Amino acid sequence: MQTHIPVAVLGATGSVGQRFISLLNDHPYFKVVALTASDRSIGKKYKDGCRWLLAESMPDWAGNMVLTPSDKSGLNGAVIAFSALPASEANTIEPELASQGIVLCSNASSFRRDEDVPLLLPEVNADHIGLIPLQRKNRNWRGAILTNPNCTSTGLTVALKALDDAFGVEKIFAVSMQALSGAGYPGIPSLDVIDNVIPNIGGEEEKVEWEPTKMLGKFNPSGIQLAPIKISAHTNRVAVVDGHTVCASVSLLSKPSVQDVQHILASYKGPQIAQNLPSSPDPVILVRNEADRPQPKLDRQTGKGMTTVVGRIREDNLFNIKFVVLSHNTIRGAAGGSIFNAELVISQGLL
Ligand SMILES: NC(=O)c1ccc[n+]([C@@H]2O[C@H](COP(=O)([O-])OP(=O)(O)OC[C@H]3O[C@@H](n4cnc5c(N)ncnc54)[C@H](OP(=O)(O)O)[C@@H]3O)[C@@H](O)[C@H]2O)c1
Repeated sequence: MQTHIPVAVLGATGSVGQRFISLLNDHPYFKVVALTASDRSIGKKYKDGCRWLLAESMPDWAGNMVLTPSDKSGLNGAVIAFSALPASEANTIEPELASQGIVLCSNASSFRRDEDVPLLLPEVNADHIGLIPLQRKNRNWRGAILTNPNCTSTGLTVALKALDDAFGVEKIFAVSMQALSGAGYPGIPSLDVIDNVIPNIGGEEEKVEWEPTKMLGKFNPSGIQLAPIKISAHTNRVAVVDGHTVCASVSLLSKPSVQDVQHILASYKGPQIAQNLPSSPDPVILVRNEADRPQPKLDRQTGKGMTTVVGRIREDNLFNIKFVVLSHNTIRGAAGGSIFNAELVISQGLL
């Protein structure tokens, strides 16, 4: 790509916002021209308004940018906005910007359930991007809103897609162990979570039980036909920094062997149009055969944090197959996922 497309990061100082800065550093398609935050940070240099938490250094270009408001006046000519806003703010800010011609690639849950809004994992349902023309027509927008799913649904849905294509998925029982960065910064007080497991994450179980049914659903030009799959989820917060782990037991319509399941997961490639973009996961799924993997500390950076890692595939006494799936929540489950979605928008000529 010859010219870099001007983009903004909304909510740039938070847990997901920082990942955006890191992943957009030297991105082949995009140039960051604006960083936004709340009223308490606007006017500060990014390096003064952000408590940087990533191992890699804050890029100098970002540190010296001044934080701006999240309306169009603060976007400095950006045509794509990567949103890491809380849902309470995204509710109003995102549609306002989309109506003004900006393409929003959002992490917020605000519009995921809307019938004309793609809930997108390109390696699963790249064809759902076909909702954008419908959305523009319905809402008379020049811009658009695309969403990525809740970070716990992400890895689980990638694995389920491979299994659904090959064997048909009927129902799933899933238990999550979710990282602290998933609660944003500063997140949960240390004395609440060290030496502890918190067996409740507000609204999360409902998201994990519904979002995969949209992503695994069939696209038709008037909307998505939800997949007839039943999911029961327990979601837990654990004292891990990054990387959400899900233990899943799955009933399949056909009854494959463990070896068949391993083979199908390891060879899954996803739709052709999602395979050669800068953020395409390589591989899409890594199957680990060790008895004690995947582990967040060891496996979350697989494929630069974009690969879904599956292990402990074995027979299940109540369902057919059970396994453990790991996905990096702020990379594949958030910032990296949004950037992948934007790359798909561009490659499909929808900007
Ligand atoms: N963390 C994850 O793994 C993850 C995964 C998937 C989706 N998400 C979603 O992504 C979004 C961001 O999550 P996060 O974990 O990064 O949260 P966070 O750490 O709490 O960061 C929130 C960001 O939004 C900014 N902000 C707050 N109110 C604002 C306003 N009125 N106008 C403009 N900016 C405002 C904050 O700026 P200040 O610094 O000025 O307060 C901060 O930059 C949420 O919707 C979350 O549900 C998170």
